[in-house]
Amino acid sequence: MVKKVLFAASEVYPFAKTGGLADVAHALPRALKNLYDVTVVMPLYSIIDRNKYNIASLGETLNISMGGKEYAIELYGCTVEGYEYYFIYEPMLCDRKFLYGTPKAGYEDNGLRFALFSYAIFALLKKKHYEILHLNDWQCALTALLVHKDPALSPKIIYTIHNLAYQGIFDSSILESIGIDKRYFTMGSLEFYGKVNFMKAGIAYADEVTTVSPTYAREILTGEFGCGLEGFLHFHHAKLTGIINGIDTDHFSPATDGALISPYSDAKGKKANKSDLLKKLALRGINKPLFVFIGRFTSQKGIDLLIETLPKIAALDCNIALLGEGEEHYHEALDVLAASHKNIHLTFRYDEVLSHQIYAAADFLLMPSLFEPCGLNQMIAFSYGTLPIVHRVGGLVDTVKRLESYQEDSCSGYGLIFSTPTSRSLLSAVNKGCELYEDKKHFERIINHNMRCDFSWGESAIAYGALYEKEKDIDA
Ligand code: GLC
Repeated sequence: MVKKVLFAASEVYPFAKTGGLADVAHALPRALKNLYDVTVVMPLYSIIDRNKYNIASLGETLNISMGGKEYAIELYGCTVEGYEYYFIYEPMLCDRKFLYGTPKAGYEDNGLRFALFSYAIFALLKKKHYEILHLNDWQCALTALLVHKDPALSPKIIYTIHNLAYQGIFDSSILESIGIDKRYFTMGSLEFYGKVNFMKAGIAYADEVTTVSPTYAREILTGEFGCGLEGFLHFHHAKLTGIINGIDTDHFSPATDGALISPYSDAKGKKANKSDLLKKLALRGINKPLFVFIGRFTSQKGIDLLIETLPKIAALDCNIALLGEGEEHYHEALDVLAASHKNIHLTFRYDEVLSHQIYAAADFLLMPSLFEPCGLNQMIAFSYGTLPIVHRVGGLVDTVKRLESYQEDSCSGYGLIFSTPTSRSLLSAVNKGCELYEDKKHFERIINHNMRCDFSWGESAIAYGALYEKEKDIDA
């Protein structure tokens, strides 16, 4: 019998996306499809276009009592590309302009909102039978505690940390309104420097804890990257595994990509796309290298470093295109740079179609991340024949090999790597990129090599499958 898996995440592409979690929550369940019967569950935010995806009420209500208050949760569903989804609808959780907060700050009641999401997942588990529960990030971590408290439920719980920097930390007064007894307010459970930490529930009560690359799994055990949880993770490290993410190779395939003016399958095929994009962004110079950044404008992604270095990069004979959204102060600083440099173009929004066109057109992708649990953009860049320039951290270490060590018969992607997060190191890597760009033949050879490598979910899905199957440690 194929086992039933409930896969829960607070964002799933194409319905709602702020970051890589949404891509993983879209692609990993699909990669597991032939091995397991997976149902994905997420909130039905009001920003989701119900008509576009034929999302309809399932006529079922989950009645939840949380902290002495009653909540009637409506269950919705849809099928997209042969794949089934569940949606949780409740006004407090869903009726917002953004998922987690405005560009200025997170919503004040996020603790309550996502505790309710966790209760809804728990209610689903009670109502329908699942052998495996796969929870992602802090927004649904509390479910692990709810299951732990309920002797009637015993699914195998996998908890995946996509980013330790977001733990869901709230004032201890929240305990009452989320209906969690004070006896869980201990160091071994939810307590974190006098506050309540949702992520700790996932780590403490899951059977297996994973994070999204082997290097990040090691890094988070250190004070530098552990965000205060390094000791707690050390305590639980026997159940901690790093599994590298893949990308959805159907969605990110330059040979069949409907977003591109000219789909392609080798380095030469990029030119028509580059010419089209430059025109669209009013940048000039098809023969100049095009450096791009795509992602969230947050400090994690190295935006401060980027802002500091951009004027120096712009002084080189090149073009720069930036795409993303995020914190307002970064938006303002980048706006100033784009306004004062003819060769810098900024698009401040999330735009999936444009991002594909930029990957296709670009020569180099900048990823100066201060930390990076996995990072998906470098793998997308490889597939689109764009050379990544990355800071040597986290998943970037596991997915990008040094160009200097290039071997034709290897199956790794190659890029330019810098080891210290300083403007000087970043600029030096960019300069190397410019030199490489001049050596057309070698550059094309590397690009063609990278495009042939496999960044699909294949092996990683098998690794998750192995954890799903692993015997539960009943003493844990
Ligand atoms: C988060 C991390 C990123 C990772 C993604 C998916 O967004 O910051 O590194 O690739 O989650 O796991």
